[in-house]
Amino acid sequence: MSAFPDGFLWGAATAAYQVEGGYQADGKGPSIWDEFAHRPSATYQGTNGDVAVDHYHRFREDVALMGELGMKSYRFSLSWPRLLPTGRGQVNEAGVAFYSDLIDELLKHQIEPMITLYHWDLPLALQQEGGWEARSTADAFVEYARLCYQRFGDRVKLWSTFNETVVFIGHGYITGAHPPAVQDPARAVQACHHVFVAHAAAVAAFRQSGIPGQIGFVNVLQPHTPRSSAPEDVAACELADGIYTHWLYDPVLKGEYPAELLAKTQSLWGVPRFAPGDDALLRNNLCDFIGLNFYKRETVAANPHGETQLTANHSGTRGSGHQPGKEFGFKGLFKFVRNPDGIYTDWDWEIYPQGLTDGILAIKARYGDVPIYITENGLGAKDPVIDGEVVDDDRIAYLSRHIAAIADAIEQGAEVRGYYPWSFIDLLSWLNGYQKQYGFVYVDHARGLARQRKKSFFWYQKVIAGNGELR
Ligand code: BG6
Repeated sequence: MSAFPDGFLWGAATAAYQVEGGYQADGKGPSIWDEFAHRPSATYQGTNGDVAVDHYHRFREDVALMGELGMKSYRFSLSWPRLLPTGRGQVNEAGVAFYSDLIDELLKHQIEPMITLYHWDLPLALQQEGGWEARSTADAFVEYARLCYQRFGDRVKLWSTFNETVVFIGHGYITGAHPPAVQDPARAVQACHHVFVAHAAAVAAFRQSGIPGQIGFVNVLQPHTPRSSAPEDVAACELADGIYTHWLYDPVLKGEYPAELLAKTQSLWGVPRFAPGDDALLRNNLCDFIGLNFYKRETVAANPHGETQLTANHSGTRGSGHQPGKEFGFKGLFKFVRNPDGIYTDWDWEIYPQGLTDGILAIKARYGDVPIYITENGLGAKDPVIDGEVVDDDRIAYLSRHIAAIADAIEQGAEVRGYYPWSFIDLLSWLNGYQKQYGFVYVDHARGLARQRKKSFFWYQKVIAGNGELR
């Protein structure tokens, strides 16, 4: 018998900048990613999302494939500058029509939309006014959220505010690998606080709007293991867990920061500055659910002598470009190192499905019975092509093991309501271009972006039909 409850949402996910294209179509304004990806050397071979996989023009074909796959739900993000070209004020009705049509098309195929309001593509005009470092961006976000509730709330029941603060703030303000390419942890701390404020205010607006549905937040779920049993490595590992989990989950699930952790990082990074009322705003607007994005585990070592604040870049970090052999860490706190016993993807991400069971149960232990959706999980790889077929057996193996890990967590009492592999279709992998594939559907860039079902498409179709029974 399946461990998955009836009504479990078998889905798949994408994000606007990574699939839509149409970056200047029909009145859309520029985002920070439109600007950043055009800078020389910012991304892999200068790739960008100008056209992406042209989902903007092909969404009906894509939704038909989702229907054929049997998806019960589709997680996608809205492009803020497509709806509000300068971030606030004038509405772009063509953008509203695009998402409205997409939602209708999904419902026609009995696919429940799950909307992410912010998957990193901030309107450029708001960045020019200070971006997330400016509190006014949080106010603009609430205006944007209200617009989305008004226009789509009659048909959409599942909402999340932000995707992966650790990535867009971490890379935007600490490593500098994402826009706005700042390298200053103290600025990251304050920008991150404004994200939490924006989230809480958007949750309040959602509840005031009276539309039926649930609203949550999506975070990276990343387990850590110490490099050795040496007390300094164990302590570094606890700190990494605290920063990746408690710092980023407590404000949205408990309405406060973990005070002990702030005390430990205060001398290096400072603490978030609260405006009057922030305390109550965070406390009174907790999430209805939490979304977890799970890909990999990190091995952690003490880092007493890092010469710079960041010991280096990308390979150990989340959702970023890839620079093999480089380490990532914070001077005086911790660094990520390679696990000599680990099994790694081609992009050096350690595959560790048990971490998903453990992570879900750790969330339950710390935050109680908050409903959970696994909002991303997937294998980034260069897929083999044999006789014209995309034979992505490694992806099937990866996803099977993670589905089994979720089943284990459910059997141990966790309330997991849905699973959204990353991704429905091959898409732009931010800094990695189109060569790092994640999808059930292959996109042939040499043949006018033609869609092709991969082996995993037919496999996932059976998984869904059997409600998670892996056969
Ligand atoms: C998550 C993001 O970080 O992981 C996705 O929410 C991203 O947008 C995915 O694509 C995989 O990361 P990457 O860098 O391999 O594309």
